[in-house]
Amino acid sequence: MPEKEPVTEDLAREIIRENVEHHDAFAPLYDLSHPNLTHLYERRLLRQDMAMLGELLADRETVRAVDMGAGTGRLALEFTRRGWDVTAVDNSREMLRIAHDKHQRLPEAGRGNLALVYEGAHDFLAAAEGQFDLFGFSSVLHHLPHWLEVVKLCAERLAPGGCIYITQEPMPADVERKTPAMKLVQALDEIVRAPQQVYRQVYCAVTGYQKARAGALVDYHIREGLDFDAMEAALEARGVDRRRFMRYKDRKTALVAWLDTNLLHTPNWFFRYIGQRVR
Ligand SMILES: C[S@@+](CC[C@H](N)C(=O)[O-])C[C@H]1O[C@@H](n2cnc3c(N)ncnc32)[C@H](O)[C@@H]1O
Repeated sequence: MPEKEPVTEDLAREIIRENVEHHDAFAPLYDLSHPNLTHLYERRLLRQDMAMLGELLADRETVRAVDMGAGTGRLALEFTRRGWDVTAVDNSREMLRIAHDKHQRLPEAGRGNLALVYEGAHDFLAAAEGQFDLFGFSSVLHHLPHWLEVVKLCAERLAPGGCIYITQEPMPADVERKTPAMKLVQALDEIVRAPQQVYRQVYCAVTGYQKARAGALVDYHIREGLDFDAMEAALEARGVDRRRFMRYKDRKTALVAWLDTNLLHTPNWFFRYIGQRVR
């Protein structure tokens, strides 16, 4: 695969601008358009991650947690349910609005506290004070122009024993083009997903929302994937050790995600990672 051009400051600004524009426009349809984040198999993996985070952070009276690029609150709401002190950071106002509404709809007892910060990841880290017990990233790093810098900054802001949780990010692709097996799995996923697609069409027709097409820079790092080894080396250099790592298949339906992860093994993988600051 050809080397990607280095991310200049102009390019970084453009990546951020396209992301804000896209996520603002797409926010009302985001949850409906990402069944990969809510199906049963993913929910099971998320429960496992949360159980481990709960154990690793069990010694703290309060957990100061940040959901970076929180979007509609997928991780942030998991965190608040555990009574943690949660900040949801995002540079899309519309995504945060939905996170806020979802939080408000939870039963008051047990929904916990959620602070919303409308800011870019870098700006938040530059302005926020003190240390944190947990940074969560779900499907965010591949959107950030300087994603590895952000991971490093977070590691440096972790309290001793604090954790960094990264999920729904692409590994470097083993192939340049989709293989026939990948196309087959994708087609199967679309077939199994058909009822959900019909539901989304009806929802769009009724509400008038329209699917926004992402600009070319929105998922800037998705095609070549994130350099996991470089990331882990950077984390280890900052005293963060691996506690959980899993490669899995990001599919739209639980059935195909399970089949592909456990039996079919097509070459494109996503990862989830939990690290803990031990030094
Ligand atoms: C694919 S969504 C993931 C949302 C959520 N974490 C989830 O798992 O559903 C990516 C989110 O990252 C946010 N984002 C993109 N670039 C960002 C940046 N530079 N700083 C903060 N948030 C950013 C977007 O606005 C969007 O809400």
